[in-house]
Amino acid sequence: MFFRSFLSVSLVSWVGVVVAADSAWQHLGNLSPYQKAPLPSGVKADLPDDCTVDQVMLMHRHGSRYPLVTELPFIQGLQYKLGNASDALAKAKLPSNLQFLKKGYTTTLGVNDLTAPGRQQLFNHGVEFRLKYPNLQASSVLAGGQDRVIESAQWFSQGYFGRTWPTLNETEFSTLPENNVTISWITPMDTCPLWQYAYGNNATVTWGAVYLPPITKRLNNVLPHTNLTDDDTHGALFACAYDLAAHGVSPWCDAFTEKEIADFEYELDLLMDGAFGYNLPSPMGPMLGTLFVNKLIERFSNSTGNASAVYLEFGHDTTIDQALAALGLAKDSPPLPASGPVPANRKFKTSIQVPFAAQMVWEKFSCTSSAKDAQIRLVLNESPLPLSACAKSSFDKSHGSCSYDSFVKANSYSTSTQWGSAAWNKTCGVAAF
Ligand SMILES: *[C@@H]1O[C@H](CO)[C@@H](O)[C@H](O)[C@H]1NC(C)=O
Ligand SMILES: *[C@@H]1O[C@H](CO)[C@@H](O)[C@H](O)[C@H]1NC(C)=O
Ligand SMILES: *[C@@H]1O[C@H](CO)[C@@H](O)[C@H](O)[C@H]1NC(C)=O
Ligand SMILES: *[C@@H]1O[C@H](CO)[C@@H](O)[C@H](O)[C@H]1NC(C)=O
Ligand SMILES: *[C@@H]1O[C@H](CO)[C@@H](O)[C@H](O)[C@H]1NC(C)=O
Ligand SMILES: *[C@@H]1O[C@H](CO)[C@@H](O)[C@H](O)[C@H]1NC(C)=O
Ligand SMILES: *[C@@H]1O[C@H](CO)[C@@H](O)[C@H](O)[C@H]1NC(C)=O
Ligand SMILES: *[C@@H]1O[C@H](CO)[C@@H](O)[C@H](O)[C@H]1NC(C)=O
Repeated sequence: MFFRSFLSVSLVSWVGVVVAADSAWQHLGNLSPYQKAPLPSGVKADLPDDCTVDQVMLMHRHGSRYPLVTELPFIQGLQYKLGNASDALAKAKLPSNLQFLKKGYTTTLGVNDLTAPGRQQLFNHGVEFRLKYPNLQASSVLAGGQDRVIESAQWFSQGYFGRTWPTLNETEFSTLPENNVTISWITPMDTCPLWQYAYGNNATVTWGAVYLPPITKRLNNVLPHTNLTDDDTHGALFACAYDLAAHGVSPWCDAFTEKEIADFEYELDLLMDGAFGYNLPSPMGPMLGTLFVNKLIERFSNSTGNASAVYLEFGHDTTIDQALAALGLAKDSPPLPASGPVPANRKFKTSIQVPFAAQMVWEKFSCTSSAKDAQIRLVLNESPLPLSACAKSSFDKSHGSCSYDSFVKANSYSTSTQWGSAAWNKTCGVAAF
């Protein structure tokens, strides 16, 4: 059985006690509360003492949020079914992990907005970022123009700058609209008209039809008169994820086996890979992410002559997934199959790559003796994600890094792609006049 509360789990870890390796909250895909990514084997987390980070670019996902308007109805539908069966449930002999249903289940979840745990994740990350790079002082913050992203940037800034932050002016705190006319590395898909048609949920529907029915059957066998459907089961899985996101605790996480949660996690991976990654019609996923990679290279090469030492920017899981696709990272071959079986060692894993409050940190660094020339590495959720396409030396391999020049060369697909080019227009269905 899983821990019912992730807050109690993190409290335990604060006092240094080893926490159980696996619990439900760690396997809720992009709906997982923030967690540090595992360190890839053979890779060191820290740079040697003779290396200095000269420039850093942070792309931060917003923190834990309420369900989307498309997700909440599943939870409300479940509540309705359980409410109808309340008399039978109160009298029934229920298994211990479902005892809570004797008193009924009422959801008070809102929609879309950042939650209290979300605020805390961002404030903490702001403090930690300030401490991690004491010699690099940021002077501006940029947020994608959506409420939960803006609020996330605000909490991070409170942690990073302190209470003087609210007096900063618009030069220092700005937003980039999230709409279909703003060319943005935070929301590149919004200016690609065909994306909204390519972004089908076919894979998740296919996978849902495989993994949900046995769970529904199991629940109906122990919950009298509820007559749950697969949509209700889906609602119960969402209830686990979103109660955690909003309240830090959910009785529903205990209602599922480890395998059932792992199957839900796979659904979320299929969703993100299909909508913002490698399972979009080729080459849409990598192409969209080139806007981010080109922005990174523009800044780290200082090609406009006005690059800052620190960038603090706020966006989405989708921002990070599209960037990973352009970089060729976390790519599965063969592609993730919609009808299963779940590939156990898949590389595309939203639980560790894009949980709520995910932090994609790019460091440009130099060393006096360990390495020659400028270097680059990607630290995703506090662990280096090896830049395998350009890693050459043993230093590269043990730090997940590359020489900056090799990194730029390895990303020629990005540097040769531009928004509004013939290739972009073709992939995005933009008519050229
Ligand atoms: C719930 O109960 C109402 C009133 O008895 C009934 O009309 C409705 O069909 C029931 N709904 C479900 C989903 O069982
Ligand atoms: C905003 O702050 C920046 C950086 O301190 C400063 O250069 C600029 O003049 C300020 N702008 C306004 C309108 O106060
Ligand atoms: C942007 O969206 C609006 C509203 O949905 C639509 O009318 C318009 O045609 C779109 N523009 C582009 C460039 O896609
Ligand atoms: C999704 O399925 C529908 C119906 O089967 C099909 O028409 C559509 O082309 C599929 N979309 C994608 C992106 O595969
Ligand atoms: C259970 O739900 C199904 C589908 O919603 C419906 O067809 C069936 O009549 C229901 N059974 C009972 C016993 O309410
Ligand atoms: C940096 O220079 C480029 C090119 O001249 C310009 O478009 C951009 O606005 C400048 N950025 C800042 C932060 O001044
Ligand atoms: C970018 O180049 C300008 C002009 O040479 C310089 O003032 C600035 O410090 C450089 N930025 C970084 C991050 O190196
Ligand atoms: C791509 O489409 C845009 C908008 O229609 C157009 O301005 C641009 O010229 C097109 N690019 C090419 C290379 O045709």
